[in-house]
Amino acid sequence: MAVTTRIPTALIATLRGAQHICVLTGAGISAESGVPTFRDAQSGLWEKYDPLDLATPEAFLRDPKLIWRWYRWRRELVAKAQPNPAHQALATFATLVPRLTLVTQNVDGLHQRAGSTDVIEFHGNLFDDRCFAEDRIVDCTADADVPICPGCGSNVRPGVVWFGEAIPEQALDRSFAAAADCDVFLSIGTSSLVFPAAGLAEVANEAGAVVIEVNPNPTGMSAGFDYAIAGNAGSVLPELIDSLTD
Ligand code: OAD
Repeated sequence: MAVTTRIPTALIATLRGAQHICVLTGAGISAESGVPTFRDAQSGLWEKYDPLDLATPEAFLRDPKLIWRWYRWRRELVAKAQPNPAHQALATFATLVPRLTLVTQNVDGLHQRAGSTDVIEFHGNLFDDRCFAEDRIVDCTADADVPICPGCGSNVRPGVVWFGEAIPEQALDRSFAAAADCDVFLSIGTSSLVFPAAGLAEVANEAGAVVIEVNPNPTGMSAGFDYAIAGNAGSVLPELIDSLTD
């Protein structure tokens, strides 16, 4: 494994020759847009709040008003945020290679706002409303403290995946198929602590892909990657795209 702050020439050659690149992004890619990560010391959301109080179905059943207050705060924060150069670089990247599969653990929709299409949302979307009882996305005016499903009248919840819940089946299947099929796997801005998402890099590695991490801090998985580029996504990714087009 090579830990580097520069982009190695051999890596550029690998990217140029790649037929299918699979990218996994995490909260770190949106950090430079002002969206807090979960586990960074000081600024991470899970440093200040207990996920068991805010991100489990049990917490929602206990106090749906509290959950909605928290998720509305996050919706407002994300609505004011703008995609950053890292999101934009990934949208451009997709136009430069034969095939790119973009999987995100983020629920903020910033990849789509930067122009990426067909984004696989592994943990759902912050702006979706989901009927708690029927477990389907619904259209509802979310101005009540706790919105009500127009179909069945039960409580509506935010359309994100909470701890202990299954990943949406299609997102899971497509992501693992892409990881097993790609020749290059990029892990960007994720602590690689949350499974099954963190398992995608392992699958790609076992299938023989070149695995690359972009993160200013080492993660528990860095040692298993072929390259670990120590830097912020907002600087490293535009540089990577520039080096491909030079
Ligand atoms: P984490 O908060 O666990 O990790 C964020 C990572 O981003 C850390 O490794 C940071 O070092 C890195 N980072 C910070 N700033 C960065 C920057 N400018 N450029 C690149 N990297 C940077 O977030 P995730 O790994 O995304 O799940 O967390 C995974 C899941 O845990 C989330 O999807 C969420 C959370 O609980 C659910 O809500 C289900």
